[in-house]
Amino acid sequence: MRRKLAAGNWKMHGLAADLPEVDQLAALYPAAPVDIVLCPPAPLIDRMAARVATGVIALGGQTCHPAIKGAHTGDISAQMLADAGARYVILGHSERRADHRETDTIVRAQARAAIEAGLVAIICLGETEAERDAGRTLEVVTAQLAGSLPDRATGDTCVVAYEPVWAIGTGRVPSPDQIAEVHGALRRALTGHLGADTAEAIRLLYGGSVKPDNAAGIFAIPDVDGALVGGASLKAADFAAIIDALAAS
Ligand code: PGA
Repeated sequence: MRRKLAAGNWKMHGLAADLPEVDQLAALYPAAPVDIVLCPPAPLIDRMAARVATGVIALGGQTCHPAIKGAHTGDISAQMLADAGARYVILGHSERRADHRETDTIVRAQARAAIEAGLVAIICLGETEAERDAGRTLEVVTAQLAGSLPDRATGDTCVVAYEPVWAIGTGRVPSPDQIAEVHGALRRALTGHLGADTAEAIRLLYGGSVKPDNAAGIFAIPDVDGALVGGASLKAADFAAIIDALAAS
């Protein structure tokens, strides 16, 4: 039985002044209805950790370097994220793939480092609008999965997030059939790579314009185990509405 997961990706948003949103969220969930993760910008992780000490809300980074340490100015290792209080890390987000040329090979190396540091890797993949229009969606996402998934992937170490690039931050969401088709293909591909038992244990998140008003519909789709939420995770009330929809699904 896969535990449902609501993960919030704050991207490059958030200052100390925004930390009360975390207090509000923590106050709403003295116990966990589903797994909850917030991934703030790295400078906020340790300050957030002090505010979510009950452990109901876990924290995550938004990327990590494949190496444990070294001469890599500006980079952050998985071990540093864990040391700051993170338990998860988002890897291969389309914004990282586009802005920082993080390829499948790099994402796989980052995922290895994350697992080594004791973090859960949230591996993101998804097609562009041009790839969908060309009928290449399943080919693209299964190739990204094959290239990004570390050999040691298990239900405890990896989560896969399907995030169509054209749905991120746009208010556009694929139809339920489109999401079900991709999640079904990802589950089959996971089975091919890891065997049925491990594939069944890996959570598949949908991400891209998940909001309080569409969350219940998305969570009703087969093989959707939760969401990776960007904009709507910045406000406690909005994220809580999505968490509640997931818990009720
Ligand atoms: P969005 O972002 O919810 O703002 O569309 C999702 C994401 O990029 O993870």
